Amino acid sequence: MAGKKIIITGVPGVGKTTVVNEALAKLKDEGITYQSLNFGTFMFEIAQKEGYAKDRDEMRRLGKDVQKRLQQLAAKAIAQIQGNLIIDTHASVKTPTGYLPGLPEWVLREIMPDVIILVETDEDQILLRRLGDETRERDMEGSGGIAEHQQFNRSFGAAYATLTGCTVKIVHNPDFLLEKAVTEMAAVLR
Ligand code: AP5
Repeated sequence: MAGKKIIITGVPGVGKTTVVNEALAKLKDEGITYQSLNFGTFMFEIAQKEGYAKDRDEMRRLGKDVQKRLQQLAAKAIAQIQGNLIIDTHASVKTPTGYLPGLPEWVLREIMPDVIILVETDEDQILLRRLGDETRERDMEGSGGIAEHQQFNRSFGAAYATLTGCTVKIVHNPDFLLEKAVTEMAAVLR
């Protein structure tokens, strides 16, 4: 069974994992199931095995060529998995030398998504969510930098749609309106 392949993206801390998990719980009651995969976890397991990174936040500071290789290996592993898939990843990764495409052509060719979802909200809210999360080692950046990253991600999303013919859906996840974001996400996954 080929199944649907849905890619979920959003800048770190926008709440993509939170929205996806709640949408999946809602759909389970309707008998609709997806396997939820985190692209970063696939990359990190390889990076850890090869001694490149001790934690997932270290990965975006690795050299570009190492990150590209990790992307390629993660994409090949994910391409082997059948059925309805949700792939939680990034449209772009902010590295010390600039924005790295999260889904370069060779990754897209392996995965061939049906839909790319961009989860977004106001940059000030994202900044506060990052500051409140002590479990991660977030890069220090202000709301201007977060706004720029979200803007870039829309451009990357358009390029990915042009390469694959997939659709691009923006799901807004503002404070106090998580349920609305979950409803929007579930509608795309149905
Ligand atoms: P990844 O594991 O995806 O980490 P991340 O981007 O930091 O994502 P998080 O899961 O921490 O944030 P989130 O947006 O899901 O937010 P959350 O739901 O936790 O990636 C790790 C690394 O892998 C990357 O840094 C990169 O190096 C690498 N990587 C991954 N894909 C790659 C690719 N394709 N190419 C290259 N490298 C790649 O929520 C955050 C907080 O917000 C929580 O406290 C939550 O309670 C709160 N919140 C959520 N929604 C709301 C709301 N509506 N109102 C109020 N609070 C809310």
